[in-house]
Amino acid sequence: MGTPKIITVDDYEPLAKRVLPADVFDYYAGGAGDEWTLAENRRAFEDWVIRPRMLTGAWPVDPSTRILGTDIAFPVLVAPWAYQRRAHADGEYATARAAARAGTVMVVSSTAFEYLEEVAAATDAPKWWQLYVFTDRGETVEMLHRVHAALIRMVRSGPEAAAAAWDVIIDSCSVRAKHGGELTGPNPTDRAKRGTKYHVVVASDGIPLAALPSAANVHDTMLFPALLRRALVVCTAIARLYADAAYHSAENRKLCAAEGILPLIRERGEPHGSGLGTVRCVVEHANAWLLANKRLDRRNDRLTNIIDALLTTACIFVIANRLTDY
Ligand SMILES: Cc1cc2nc3c(=O)[nH]c(=O)nc-3n(C[C@H](O)[C@H](O)[C@H](O)COP(=O)(O)O)c2cc1C
Repeated sequence: MGTPKIITVDDYEPLAKRVLPADVFDYYAGGAGDEWTLAENRRAFEDWVIRPRMLTGAWPVDPSTRILGTDIAFPVLVAPWAYQRRAHADGEYATARAAARAGTVMVVSSTAFEYLEEVAAATDAPKWWQLYVFTDRGETVEMLHRVHAALIRMVRSGPEAAAAAWDVIIDSCSVRAKHGGELTGPNPTDRAKRGTKYHVVVASDGIPLAALPSAANVHDTMLFPALLRRALVVCTAIARLYADAAYHSAENRKLCAAEGILPLIRERGEPHGSGLGTVRCVVEHANAWLLANKRLDRRNDRLTNIIDALLTTACIFVIANRLTDY
């Protein structure tokens, strides 16, 4: 049996049937239920015609376009589809390479959750992450944290950038939480009104590396270890760490020393001069961008997982906005 000629996309289907185990083929080829939607999709495409324009002399043809700020070679994206390793050991990695070579975006299915970092690193080309909200909300938040970290690694790719030590700034901003809920408490800087604090670690070039919410009355020093841990996940090394006196404690300084970080944290009662003033605007910008998300600014959500997910998503969008004009 010779290799059939491939002329249209549909021509792949009989070929796939020949090489894939029957159950795998049926999974990829089949639709849900009685396949009404599958049939309806095919029918709907038939309503559309690509009308050739005759005698326009339009050569060379340039089908390139821009989608949500990303330039692509032609107006087709790779749809998110699940469990690609069932078809081939290279699975999503091969699809990422093919999409990059074709000059388009791969939308990566949430089902690649377990190895999303490897898919992100498979090429430098832009990819989109398809976000399923799992029944286990904690798992969804973890997925967002990992997408956030993978995105930072992509932004800072290249041996030089990856090896360089980063300067980071830690700060927080607080919002009111009129209706209470988890992670709220009397805000000492807002006449004890219920509120939440968002703590953020920002690189000196403005990239938010990690963010964590807490009740407004939790002392900043308590959040420091977790923030540092999260930042270290994405930075090879941190050179200097700037923070105001609220984050100062002997333990936090010790943590920095253990990681070879120079802590430029003002001690309470000390005169200014830690250097924070010169870099503070970077973290102020990040805070403002995070609060541009109204569900963070007016805290009506009640659950920790939701707040954490919104905060992480806001960080992801801040970084994505730097990559594209979107
Ligand atoms: C085998 C298979 C797996 C899919 N997995 C996902 C998925 O994980 N996430 C998702 O959003 N869509 C998924 N889809 C839907 C596709 O992204 C796409 O919307 C759908 O197949 C319609 O496009 P098509 O006509 O090009 O097949 C899947 C589709 C197929 C056939």
